[in-house]
Amino acid sequence: MKNIQFSKDTKLVFVKKLTVLLFCFIAPPPFSSSAAEAINDEALIVYYSRTGKSKTVSDVIKRNFCVDMLEIKDLKDRSGAWGFMGAAFDNMFDRYTEIEPKQPDLSEYSLVILVSPVWNWKMSAPIRTFLKDNRLDNKKLVVFTTANIDIKKYDKFGDDASFIKRFLRDYLRKSSKGMQLLAKDSGADIIRHYHVETKNVTRKQIIEQTIRHFADLKLNTGLNLCTSLPLHMGYNN
Ligand SMILES: Cc1cc2nc3c(=O)[nH]c(=O)nc-3n(C[C@H](O)[C@H](O)[C@H](O)COP(=O)(O)O)c2cc1C
Repeated sequence: MKNIQFSKDTKLVFVKKLTVLLFCFIAPPPFSSSAAEAINDEALIVYYSRTGKSKTVSDVIKRNFCVDMLEIKDLKDRSGAWGFMGAAFDNMFDRYTEIEPKQPDLSEYSLVILVSPVWNWKMSAPIRTFLKDNRLDNKKLVVFTTANIDIKKYDKFGDDASFIKRFLRDYLRKSSKGMQLLAKDSGADIIRHYHVETKNVTRKQIIEQTIRHFADLKLNTGLNLCTSLPLHMGYNN
């Protein structure tokens, strides 16, 4: 009788151990380490979008890295042909606009991911205004731009390129209102600039282009995906 009791206890312990062991193999690994969670918690996407393309880029980053996101709203009406012309005019003459929120609390973020359409070879007026009105000292900054064409290809042109190519390259690089210097003026440490082309491109292709930057983004920021595989929003989920 005692023997039977002993063997039952042993079996119970064995079954318990086996369950724990199996759980270790079966349970999915956490998607991100606690260190990665910490940096994801400190990251904020700040975006403006007039026609939704930069919003698509922002959404796909948010969905895949589970970071906070803030939309900058332009209080000027930018819709339709008049809105387009007003936007072009404002950017041509480096004019600022009224935005909402004007000075959001950024204190808890160490990494800002800025997403902006390009207007006349510059970041859009609402994002330029955001950079003017907010200090980003001691913060790392990643910039995503969207535009009809691949503006980043100009950066690669050498001094043997045509005058117009060199002019546009230097404009993007050095102009006091150019993209990089403008962001630097805010005190931020710019670590990366990614670009997404949007002309004659489907939403799916915008998402795919954005996802292509994720490996480099992870490498250079310490962000970790919060999904097992990159989510192609609306295509595989
Ligand atoms: C006023 C204005 C100026 C633009 N200037 C440029 C430009 O210089 N180069 C370019 O490739 N695309 C330019 N575009 C196209 C936008 O950058 C592109 O469509 C962008 O992806 C739109 O993003 P959104 O949908 O988030 O507003 C311009 C668009 C507007 C409205």
